[in-house]
Amino acid sequence: MDWGMKNRFHRIIRPEDGRTVMLAVDHGYFLGPTTGLERFAETVVPLLPYADTLMLTRGALRNYIPPESDVPIVLRVSGGTSILNKNLLHEGIITSIEEAIRLNVVGVAFSILVGAEFERDTILNFTKVVDEAERYGIPVVAVTAVGRDMVKDVKYLSLATRMAGELGARIVKTYFCEGFEKVVETSPVPVVIAGGKKIPEKEALTMTYSAIEAGAAGVDMGRNIFQSENPVAMIRAVRAVVHEGYTGEEAYQLFEELKAGGGEE
Ligand code: R5P
Repeated sequence: MDWGMKNRFHRIIRPEDGRTVMLAVDHGYFLGPTTGLERFAETVVPLLPYADTLMLTRGALRNYIPPESDVPIVLRVSGGTSILNKNLLHEGIITSIEEAIRLNVVGVAFSILVGAEFERDTILNFTKVVDEAERYGIPVVAVTAVGRDMVKDVKYLSLATRMAGELGARIVKTYFCEGFEKVVETSPVPVVIAGGKKIPEKEALTMTYSAIEAGAAGVDMGRNIFQSENPVAMIRAVRAVVHEGYTGEEAYQLFEELKAGGGEE
């Protein structure tokens, strides 16, 4: 890797342990005012000290995040359809690399819809973004397996993850599944898991622990943090699993303690 690429990559995947807590708050580009993000800055700004990177759209970044903040940004650059469209996530390029550079990002994120009717469109647009981003040393995070129709089992997730890595992703975001070791082992690049829809905190922390045990580089988690009854306590508990070797059970204890104390330092 060239210096710029390496530097940006390690502002996502921390060099100390090869892990990351990416906070995903990009949901508005297809879901609108997602539950928990209606008052975006109020929810997200207190989480910034605990996020290794923040993944969001340019509109959310410009309008809600103080430019004085030093949290590294991964910019969502695919989109084009809404939750109301039956072809949800038939996405194209929504933000140029020039704009990403202007916003001083450390990475860009693009969804590929492997197995969908329109997979070819999303994959060819993804590779265009990879070509352009690589020219400037910007890592591309491939977002895989989002959508309702796919059976998110080890066979499918391994296929989508491996394809994303071979097509040029520097990091792949996918979902946790039974047999996740295979997804990680057959990926040429680090794999992080999304949280998916909100589940009880204990389950989300256990899933995070299982993913780390299986070799994941961390999480790119959204709803299970910002929809938690105490988002600050939850992101700190997730960090404890990803960076401090806590089990799911230990992290849940920590969550409960932090929640009782209000979540802040
Ligand atoms: C979906 O494409 C978005 O990128 C979300 O950011 C992603 O699914 C991660 O968020 P969550 O943990 O809420 O699933």
